[in-house]
Amino acid sequence: MSFVTKNGDFFVESVSIKQIAASVGTPFYVYSDAVLRKNYQLLSEALSDVNALICFAVKANSNLSVLKTFGSMGGGADVVSEGELRRALKAGISPEKIVFAGVGKAVSEIEFALMAGIYQFNVESLPELESINDVATRLGKEANISIRVNPDVDALSHSKISTGRKQDKFGVSIDFLDELIDFIKDSTYLRLKGISTHIGSQLTQLEPFSQAFQKIRILFEEIDQKHGIRLERLDLGGGIGIPYQEKLSFTMQDYAAVIQDVFKDLDVQFVFEPGRSLAGEAGVLVSEVLYVKKGAIRDFIIVDGAMNDLKRQALYDAYHHISVLTKNTGAEEQFDVVGPVCESSDVFGTSRSFVRPSPGDIVLIHDAGAYGATMSSYYNTRLLVPEVLVKGDQFSVIRPRPTYEEIFAREPLAQWLSE
Ligand code: LLP
Repeated sequence: MSFVTKNGDFFVESVSIKQIAASVGTPFYVYSDAVLRKNYQLLSEALSDVNALICFAVKANSNLSVLKTFGSMGGGADVVSEGELRRALKAGISPEKIVFAGVGKAVSEIEFALMAGIYQFNVESLPELESINDVATRLGKEANISIRVNPDVDALSHSKISTGRKQDKFGVSIDFLDELIDFIKDSTYLRLKGISTHIGSQLTQLEPFSQAFQKIRILFEEIDQKHGIRLERLDLGGGIGIPYQEKLSFTMQDYAAVIQDVFKDLDVQFVFEPGRSLAGEAGVLVSEVLYVKKGAIRDFIIVDGAMNDLKRQALYDAYHHISVLTKNTGAEEQFDVVGPVCESSDVFGTSRSFVRPSPGDIVLIHDAGAYGATMSSYYNTRLLVPEVLVKGDQFSVIRPRPTYEEIFAREPLAQWLSE
């Protein structure tokens, strides 16, 4: 077990959370190396019968140590910006294992990616394809293209993280696909390698995957028949959910079985872009109780972590399991767990049951390893919280808390104010 509560303490592998808190100060993120590896292993084993390249979605957790951990297991990276691409390269991931997604790649980013020699661009529109063609022609470099298709399938997830419906900005509608393929056929430097799809995130049901994959399978055949192009790659995106509150209705084996079933006889390379399913359960946001405040309806536990550190509850009304480490005893009561930020949405959980804690007690917000630190901000001029990685009985600060001086140093006064 990688996370265990024992004798009023919480252990990440063999390291006490109280020990890390005493050394680093709260709030902070902590990740378990063993959980990161276990999740990668589970997916790669489930996919062992297909020719799979697992490209971790860097947006889920972009810490260099996390990227290097997956990279050391053979993983590639799915990036959506030059910054993420630079991170993946810096973490030692081979450019031949990096896919570049996103609806708005700037010319400078395309140029950087082409020079780096990435595996493929997942292209989302004709004008983007034209841009890549211009840059590729100018540099005299070939660009591998996978067209991201919008299959018009509802992921049955939160609306703000669903990407595969026709009203969503992502991917190319099936009706416009021929236009892009014809453009590629006419160009000297573009190579059509495959098609991609990613219908959304935190999918808790298999059916939408199955629907989207079947559409991809049909397109694969149509592109062969109509254009005489036998695609070499199919990028099936990410999206596998994690059990924040309820168990998932499928396992990674079930997911792999759908792929086997839909694509059984195809000799192609499959690319996967998992983010949350690899990193989500590996991380915890650790805070401390500042105050317990009386409320007219329920009392509030005010912690030192806040919505700027973990935005998911405020943005998507997301549920994260919360636990409190206290020496106090007594019956459980209901509390709202909130942060210090001046917004009513700065709430980590409502009506949660705990034994009444005291200031200084540790509060753990679970399943925060994906879309936690990467989405944090300096709002209210709160310092970005440290990230800590645990492996066995060791821990290492993999992103220290910045200082106020570092922040101010990046804000030179307007010249007319500094005189
Ligand atoms: N590939 C593409 C093209 C994506 O847009 C995403 C996520 C992924 C892969 C990885 O998906 P995953 O396996 O993690 O579901 N901030 C939101 C999630 C946004 C997901 C954006 N795209 C959240 O906190 O729930």
